[in-house]
Amino acid sequence: GYQPQTVNETGITVFEFSDKGILQRTGAEIEDWLRSDPDRPTLHFSPIRHWMNDPVGLCKIDEIWHLFYQFHPSGSDWGPMHWGHATSRDLVNWLHMPVFLHPEQNLWRLGATGGAFSGNAFRDRDGSLMFFYTERLPAYDLFKGYREIQKIARPDRRMIKAEGIVTVLEQRPDGVEHDFRDPKVWWDDAANAYRMILGASIEGDPAVLLFGSGDGLDWQYLRPLYRAPVTFRQEGARAVECPDFFPLEDKWVLVMGFVGHVEPRTRRRNLLYALVGELINDAFVPDTSELQLLDFGTDYYAMQSFEADGRQIAFAWLFNWEYRKPEGSSYSGELSLPRALSLSEDKKKLLMLPVIEVAERYAADPVVEDKSGKFSLPKAPIEIRLSGPLEGSKLVATQGGELAFEVNVAEGVLSIRLAQDDGSIQYVAELGGGKDLRLFHDHGIVEIFADGGTVCGTRRGYANIEPDHLEISSSASAQVIERNLR
Ligand code: FRU
Repeated sequence: GYQPQTVNETGITVFEFSDKGILQRTGAEIEDWLRSDPDRPTLHFSPIRHWMNDPVGLCKIDEIWHLFYQFHPSGSDWGPMHWGHATSRDLVNWLHMPVFLHPEQNLWRLGATGGAFSGNAFRDRDGSLMFFYTERLPAYDLFKGYREIQKIARPDRRMIKAEGIVTVLEQRPDGVEHDFRDPKVWWDDAANAYRMILGASIEGDPAVLLFGSGDGLDWQYLRPLYRAPVTFRQEGARAVECPDFFPLEDKWVLVMGFVGHVEPRTRRRNLLYALVGELINDAFVPDTSELQLLDFGTDYYAMQSFEADGRQIAFAWLFNWEYRKPEGSSYSGELSLPRALSLSEDKKKLLMLPVIEVAERYAADPVVEDKSGKFSLPKAPIEIRLSGPLEGSKLVATQGGELAFEVNVAEGVLSIRLAQDDGSIQYVAELGGGKDLRLFHDHGIVEIFADGGTVCGTRRGYANIEPDHLEISSSASAQVIERNLR
């Protein structure tokens, strides 16, 4: 079963920030937060307590994986942003660490929100590690929105606390509104200089902006790396958030989200899109102008990827603003399974599949092998695998006879429905060949990978999250595997 490791096992204490000052929490209380919430997943990362959103600053240092995340340490709703921190030896078991980075100002006292927003880890050529991130501050004029500036923080020797914070970029280029955030930095061999991208807008169109620097401290605006077609703005998008840009095989890949965007046909929000192309003289030249929808489920947002051990690995925030965690929960927000990124054979699409550690570190106890039918389910996370033609397949999971989740493949379209859905939003994706499918279910979280990772769908349900029966009808061979932590 699940053995949550608490910070206390390492002698570290949880500090919480509240009106009453700083509270120190220990043993039994922490254990209680970890075990008492019926929604808490076991295969997926969640904070010990309170609100989390984007994964940030992902990196691997000396065999240890470091996961930071947007964290509000005094409430289970979004608020003044800190960087939470967890470490792992295998990407699967996480140890909760103290808050790593604090906002510049005591924002909750000012009654303002903002704080230490999202950003990335960057390892310089001399091996030194820094975190580029955005600080959102109240505007110079308190009544005029906010200001977003870019900063660097360095880890202390023990990777426990951020220090040496400096501001490196404050000035927005002309035509760029308040949204100006989420830096990703790399050393660019071709340019022989540092490069940084930010999510923003240009004259109202969502855009990714490219900056350059000779020393990593002094930054100049170079050009838009990407400007969204006008349809995005017409569909409600205000700016790009959390742009991710990285070399993969012999291509460059851009991944981004659009604040406010609603896809008209399906009414989905919170979508992430990818483009595959080349980076030539600081210009990103996509191979096609058609954006690839990265995950059709709408609970996969703010993806951040990083390179380690020759792999490009991504985490994303498992959440959407429409379906919230029930009131009174001890925490809010989870992360997707870690995914490994690759390109399709024709190099046109970004593929995502769970990293190999997910299969290695979770015991695989077969519940059902190679058949369709109706089955009892264990009270545990499961993986369902279909191998063979998916067309006409149907998976229905129920709890006490009521729907938990349903997955269908009909006329080349994969769809998913959860107990909470009222039909106003369509969660659908077109399949290519449709020959394989992996589905993980973990306390209401459903993650689907089809066609070798070409089609991914992530959903978070809060009703009937402990299905006791599963009905499989498919001409593909079906396996159900109980996945518990070893
Ligand atoms: C995306 C986002 C980022 C921002 C952070 C603030 O979910 O809005 O753009 O940096 O969350 O918490």
